[in-house]
Amino acid sequence: MKITGATRIIGIFGDPIEHTLSPAIQNAAIEESGVDLVYVPFHVTADGLKAAVNGIRALDMAGVNVTIPHKERVVKLLDDVDPLASLIGAVNTIVNVEGRLIGYNTDGYGYVESLKEDTGFTAEGKNVVVIGAGGAARAILYTLMRERSASARSIILANRTYDRAKRLAKEFKKKLPWAQLEAVRLDAVYPYMDDAHLVVNTTSLGMMAQSAPDLPIERLPETAIVSDVVYRPLETALLKKAAQRGLKTHSGLGMLVHQGALSFELWTLALFPRPTAPIQAMRRAALKALGSSE
Ligand SMILES: NC(=O)c1ccc[n+]([C@@H]2O[C@H](COP(=O)([O-])OP(=O)(O)OC[C@H]3O[C@@H](n4cnc5c(N)ncnc54)[C@H](OP(=O)(O)O)[C@@H]3O)[C@@H](O)[C@H]2O)c1
Repeated sequence: MKITGATRIIGIFGDPIEHTLSPAIQNAAIEESGVDLVYVPFHVTADGLKAAVNGIRALDMAGVNVTIPHKERVVKLLDDVDPLASLIGAVNTIVNVEGRLIGYNTDGYGYVESLKEDTGFTAEGKNVVVIGAGGAARAILYTLMRERSASARSIILANRTYDRAKRLAKEFKKKLPWAQLEAVRLDAVYPYMDDAHLVVNTTSLGMMAQSAPDLPIERLPETAIVSDVVYRPLETALLKKAAQRGLKTHSGLGMLVHQGALSFELWTLALFPRPTAPIQAMRRAALKALGSSE
């Protein structure tokens, strides 16, 4: 990669950040497209978030991704927020348009696109169990219910901090009055597994070989899909357990690639005649970084 005096920086703010594959996929997209950008990871703690966001302006960065645990808090630090990101209540992509910082959310699109691509799943009329109530959960929930005619039949939202799940369910039921959305305690999720079509882990549990969320996979119907937004490792302990039971699984890799492709297009749209994100090069780079040739 050639760095010149005109190269602009994009990057990712998160804590922790070591696990991220975004530099691998975004720098692959940059090389493939020949745009004069470089993508760098930044370890940004909660205390440093405001200063880091101001740093985007000070350093004239083209933009950043925002990841765990900042996606909700960062919304208030921006000049403008795209209507969809505003409804979701979380931002994972910031674009610097001549000093004005605009927030977007590409996670929901990335998740649904990759789920459809990998498994053929569409939400209409389905029962879904979502584990977690953070930034990724917001984007996924909203996207699975946003269109009344294509909405999931029911969504059960279970989170370690029950109050957070309750608040989120209340907020989204106001925004999406047709949503059959119920918050439950994590240890009360068991009976809902019996008729679930899709179970998705949106927590960071399972990341970097941590243990999986404790879910009764054995209760799921044989046709259920088990999905994990965690992509490192590619096959998390949860997905391994589901595969051992013969269930269809969906890893976080496709979401990473699709959300990243849309972020790349948002940054480059403001800078150059729009290059479409080179999705296959991004996927190859992610697999290479994970040591997989799948
Ligand atoms: N594949 C992709 O493209 C993609 C995209 C976005 C995010 N992700 C991944 O999704 C995960 C969550 O990201 P986020 O931005 O949503 O983070 P976040 O906003 O900080 O939310 C974290 C969620 O994880 C739960 N959690 C954390 N530690 C836990 C534990 N030990 N036990 C039970 N629950 C726990 C939190 O529960 P509490 O409310 O109780 O704290 C919360 O629901 C991360 O691993 C991130 O890398 C992947």
